Amino acid sequence: MIKLDTKGTKKKKHIAIFASGAGSNAQKIIDHFKLTEKGVKVVLIASNNPKAGVLKIAEKENIPSLIFDRKKFYENGYLAELNKYKIDLIVLAGFLWKVPAELIQSYQNKIINIHPALLPKYGGKNMYGNFVHEAVLNTKEKESGITIHYVDEIYDNGTIIFQTKCEIDEYDTLQTLAKKVQILEHKYYPAVIEKLLSRP
Ligand code: GRF
Repeated sequence: MIKLDTKGTKKKKHIAIFASGAGSNAQKIIDHFKLTEKGVKVVLIASNNPKAGVLKIAEKENIPSLIFDRKKFYENGYLAELNKYKIDLIVLAGFLWKVPAELIQSYQNKIINIHPALLPKYGGKNMYGNFVHEAVLNTKEKESGITIHYVDEIYDNGTIIFQTKCEIDEYDTLQTLAKKVQILEHKYYPAVIEKLLSRP
């Protein structure tokens, strides 16, 4: 059902991004929806890390931000604060804390994550960033890629929405593989989000 606001215009879809680090994916997502008038807006950037680069991006882009306190996050999932933003999709982009069950239940099929490998391989607790690429290279895989999936109570376990691959050759190092995967993330995460939000 199409949602109209009080003036009768179509309501913008609201995204909240949760991130713990630099926020290069967050920046790509913000840019994508700023440049293309898709009726989607990033309304909140939340982080567990007060020093995260993504908070500087929020400031630069004039997007409200929220810093999670660990105790409170696992007590109530910040539901009251998040609900104020009328969020249609929570996008995890390098968010290192496990999402509490309360939040997952309140935002059923509305929380997605990107993982820098081809799940179900190379996922789970402590499998993030370069740890993932290192494991992929050590196993002498011929390919890696990205996985975008719904978030459930288990790390990197929810239903897969999208995957795409890149080749690994004998000259690849941690840095070159990380770059190949990051290029895929930046290209496809905004597009997949757009597609998810365009569904009625
Ligand atoms: C990405 O590689 C993403 O797959 C992973 O964390 C990284 C975040 O990077 N979950 P950035 O902060 O968006 O630059």
